[in-house]
Amino acid sequence: MLPRSMLLTAALLLFLYFSPLLRSGVTWITWQLAAAIGALSILTYALPYLVVSILPPQNLKKKYDADWAFVTGSSSGIGRALAERLALQGVNIVLVALDDQLLKDTHAALTNQFPQLKFRAVGADLSVSDGSYMTAIAQATKDIHVSLVFNNAGYMVTGFFRQVPLNKHLANIECNTVSAVRITHHFFQRMVDSKRKGAIVFTSSVAGYIPSPFATGYGATKAFLSSFAASLAVEARHYGVDICAVHPSPVNSRFLDKADKLDSLEFTSQFAYRPEDLPDDIFRTVGRAVWRDLGGFALVARGVTKLIDYNALATIFSLTAHNMKDWKMATQRSGPKS
Ligand SMILES: NC(=O)c1ccc[n+]([C@@H]2O[C@H](COP(=O)([O-])OP(=O)(O)OC[C@H]3O[C@@H](n4cnc5c(N)ncnc54)[C@H](OP(=O)(O)O)[C@@H]3O)[C@@H](O)[C@H]2O)c1
Repeated sequence: MLPRSMLLTAALLLFLYFSPLLRSGVTWITWQLAAAIGALSILTYALPYLVVSILPPQNLKKKYDADWAFVTGSSSGIGRALAERLALQGVNIVLVALDDQLLKDTHAALTNQFPQLKFRAVGADLSVSDGSYMTAIAQATKDIHVSLVFNNAGYMVTGFFRQVPLNKHLANIECNTVSAVRITHHFFQRMVDSKRKGAIVFTSSVAGYIPSPFATGYGATKAFLSSFAASLAVEARHYGVDICAVHPSPVNSRFLDKADKLDSLEFTSQFAYRPEDLPDDIFRTVGRAVWRDLGGFALVARGVTKLIDYNALATIFSLTAHNMKDWKMATQRSGPKS
């Protein structure tokens, strides 16, 4: 059953559309007003987007007089692609990721590829709830000035919210958002104290601005990052620090392999980009826009949220989700996952 509020809204719209008032002056003004609001919404999105797209990718070393960058989740995927592009610009890099062989291999590969630069590997689990990873991060960076921070590490927990143990959700929230807040607080303070320019970039996601059933925590962490970045951008600009959040479309990385299989993810992975395709667009954006959607899937999703209000979208999802294959698969699972 459709909720009564939606039925009433639909009835009102139909009445307005077919009413003899349609040709009257009052209704004409109403439609003009609606068109103006629509145009304003689209133009204020499209114009900055087009301007940033036309401008060339920036040399962040030059723009921020940067000796060092700090990239979380840089052992693979988007983070590694960012690290490689920063190294090509001559920036030394602190690589942060889980303390595993992948981090060691990435550190060795970059050191080999760019012998003139310095790379520091910090093995840290950013999902630990007491934030103790900050000790290792502060220790590894105490003698250098970090001008560029990429809060990029993240992963997705999938399944029905109630079927996933709470500690898994909380660890995911710590890694995707709380660690980014701790890291940003640490480095932003140092940037302000040094009176030097800087930039802090958050890898958010399309999932942050559309309802994300079966990845409820993930979508919420990304919404947090984008909101946090937008608010901090207003404060930080005053100190010469640029903040932005980017929303990539699906990317072909280890990210999708690590999550439990979802039919919706399989579908979106058909449109996946390569991690190497992202840095140019991200380097175009820093200091020029606060938010940026990256790739066609993100643009289509943004378009849908411009046409259909979030409340209506979530209601439509909630009314139709039980037809999804993911729903049926999740309901077949008997108990909570270990
Ligand atoms: N792939 C996509 O479709 C997509 C789309 C939009 C946004 N994003 C976002 O992009 C970011 C990077 O993802 P990706 O696609 O590059 O995935 P990825 O290849 O899996 O890379 C994720 C990185 O984060 C690290 N990481 C994961 N859990 C960690 C933890 N607890 N502590 C420290 N480091 C941890 C990983 O280390 P290990 O490799 O050692 O686990 C890896 O270096 C994520 O924030 C993700 O949410 C991804």
